[in-house]
Amino acid sequence: MIKAAVLGFGTVGSGVVELIDINRESIDRRLPEGIEVKYILDLRDFPDSPYKDRVVHDFNIILEDPEIKVICETMGGKEPAYTFSKKALEKGISVCTSNKELVAAHGPELLKIAAENHCSYLFEASVGGGIPIIRPMNVSLAPESITQIIGILNGTTNYMMTRMEHEEISFDEVLREAQSKGYAEKNPEADIEGHDACRKIAILSSLMCGKTVRYEDIPCEGISSISMTDVAYARSIGRAIKLLGISERDEKAGTFYVRTAPYMVPASHPLHGVEGVFNAVFVHGNLLDNVMFYGRGAGKFPTASAVVSDMVDCAMNIGQNIPVRWSDEVMELSDPGSKTGRFFVRVAASEKDKALDLFEGCKQAAPGCGPEDDFAFVTPPVAEAAFAELLKQFSDVRSSIRILG
Ligand SMILES: NC(=O)c1ccc[n+]([C@@H]2O[C@H](COP(=O)([O-])OP(=O)(O)OC[C@H]3O[C@@H](n4cnc5c(N)ncnc54)[C@H](OP(=O)(O)O)[C@@H]3O)[C@@H](O)[C@H]2O)c1
Repeated sequence: MIKAAVLGFGTVGSGVVELIDINRESIDRRLPEGIEVKYILDLRDFPDSPYKDRVVHDFNIILEDPEIKVICETMGGKEPAYTFSKKALEKGISVCTSNKELVAAHGPELLKIAAENHCSYLFEASVGGGIPIIRPMNVSLAPESITQIIGILNGTTNYMMTRMEHEEISFDEVLREAQSKGYAEKNPEADIEGHDACRKIAILSSLMCGKTVRYEDIPCEGISSISMTDVAYARSIGRAIKLLGISERDEKAGTFYVRTAPYMVPASHPLHGVEGVFNAVFVHGNLLDNVMFYGRGAGKFPTASAVVSDMVDCAMNIGQNIPVRWSDEVMELSDPGSKTGRFFVRVAASEKDKALDLFEGCKQAAPGCGPEDDFAFVTPPVAEAAFAELLKQFSDVRSSIRILG
């Protein structure tokens, strides 16, 4: 038996321990030696759990046990997850994690330590929960030149946008509903302001270019300004509003355009049908063309399934490093202001003539869909910086949302 330890017996960590028991046969088929969770580190005791005897409170017990070959870090947050992961890797113990915050902040450093110590740092569950995307990026898509990734990377916001679209309930109401169902945190900022999706597109972009795309460098907007009226307009023009993480390779400049923001997605795009808590990652490879990975982006067992797949990989490669191409060299991102795209804009009807004048060739969107004193239109392609300047000339801008495609 390969001995493992789980750090953090919360939603994902408890899922990992249970999944290893429930799916033992499947795991043993791939890893005939089997895997056993010897320790569970948590702050609390779990007197009613069948796993209560494995609970410890001192990380050093795990670190100093020579039997432990794999650690699963499902505590979340930067500290002490970072220190514990680093110490384990320095001792040659592989670490698998679902902690996107830590991966986005310290991924390349921990990968380097793993390589130097002949062990592995794997993070399949850090993006898209149960969706296999990190391993495909590292292995299956390795021969491709990936030119574009578009992801619905946050289940909470996708659930909220879907409810607003189909049930016509307001943002505040749907947020309360998401919180009561346990989809949104008490403090929902990381989800609704786009920070969570931003960390995930930073990780995917880093794997795409093999360098570090810093999430702090990515322009990030959430969904908190999206209204029911915007959702209705989107529907009227055959689109749905989704919070997207977008990463595009600028072949000529050798840089990347990366952004997290709400977009109006056309019905013809595969991401349009991704609803509720589901996530999807749409990838374009230069020769492969389009592929899309779809599934549950969160939840106890879907996320645990991804973590355990990494644990099995590590257990099959003890004493060896599973390489991940992601260096600490910072990737310079292209100026987001130079990116050209179309926008949906809503201004006061009194400013219609100005809109027609400033955005020559713009098309009025769904007349009669919103309030009578609205003028809504879709701009022709325009650079982001120029668009922002033009928008300043209106006195009553009610919304502006990017158009995908
Ligand atoms: N939940 C999901 O569906 C999901 C999906 C994908 C990724 N993730 C990521 O996975 C990670 C874990 O998420 P989760 O939802 O499982 O969180 P969670 O339910 O809050 O579990 C974290 C566990 O770690 C424990 N813990 C915190 N600090 C600790 C410390 N210093 N020493 C020992 N134990 C400690 C917590 O104990 P206390 O409760 O006593 O603080 C809790 O039991 C996060 O990074 C999250 O972003 C989660």
